[in-house]
Amino acid sequence: MLLAKSISEVRAFHKKNVGTWGLVPTMGALHQGHLSLVARARAENEHVAVSIFVNPTQFAAGSDFEKYPRPLERDLEMLQPFNVDLVFAPTAAEMYPPNFQTYVNVQDLTQPLEGAMRPGHFRGVATVVTKLFNIVQPDRAYFGQKDAQQVAVIRQMVRDLNLPVEIVVGETKREADGLAMSSRNVYLSSEERRAAAVLYRALCAARDAFHNGERGGEKLRAVMRGVLAQEPRATVEYVSAADPATLQELEHIQDRALFSMAVRFGSTRLIDNLLVVA
Ligand code: PAJ
Repeated sequence: MLLAKSISEVRAFHKKNVGTWGLVPTMGALHQGHLSLVARARAENEHVAVSIFVNPTQFAAGSDFEKYPRPLERDLEMLQPFNVDLVFAPTAAEMYPPNFQTYVNVQDLTQPLEGAMRPGHFRGVATVVTKLFNIVQPDRAYFGQKDAQQVAVIRQMVRDLNLPVEIVVGETKREADGLAMSSRNVYLSSEERRAAAVLYRALCAARDAFHNGERGGEKLRAVMRGVLAQEPRATVEYVSAADPATLQELEHIQDRALFSMAVRFGSTRLIDNLLVVA
């Protein structure tokens, strides 16, 4: 496993290792959700690269960029059993040298939901993912359904910019109580950690109502809000029942919907979603 800090090392290694490449982009602090993507990339490609980079351009000023966990040694140990060929862990200066001034902006899909709450976030994501694709030149890139809007934005960007990469999406990995695994879960106090299981309960309640025939968007959003309201530690940012393709809120659901939410516990912000199909 080569640990590359520079772009030139990655390029040289790529040149020497012909064959299909799979890339798993991450910000590190790896957990089973990340590792499930690595395992899939390993199974489907001759070579596997994992990037570990806490991307400053996708964090707002005053957000958790500084305190975001960076346990690089532990991450490398966790990757060891997966026989990863290359770990790319650049510095911010390597990715964003002085006078950097080009960004990738996906328009409509970045407006609602996370985009509305985190202005500039998806501009940072789209820009860094484009750079990672150009540096690693993977045949396939692996993303988690946990970040459903991120997947939609990246798919749109790949289509619009004719990027020669196949996007593969892995299912959300969860703790035993349903909490979606996230590098940010370590911020939760033990009381908040217990309370955080309410996100998945709220999503499941909406899914159950949907499968019992409820098709009203507002009714289904109210089901989720009702479950979240039972947890006093939860502060709701948004609750959504949207068209999975456009991410626009639905009044009447036809055959599919993306239920999603962002909820704060103290200063920790968690997101989760479920895709339902009739
Ligand atoms: P990060 O939050 O580290 O996530 C890296 C990848 O792991 C993303 O595709 C994310 O959707 C996936 N992932 C996270 N939690 C998951 C879970 N519980 N189950 C399955 N997959 C999960 O997402 C980012 O980093 C960044 O925005 C990045 C794409 C690396 C660009 O900086």
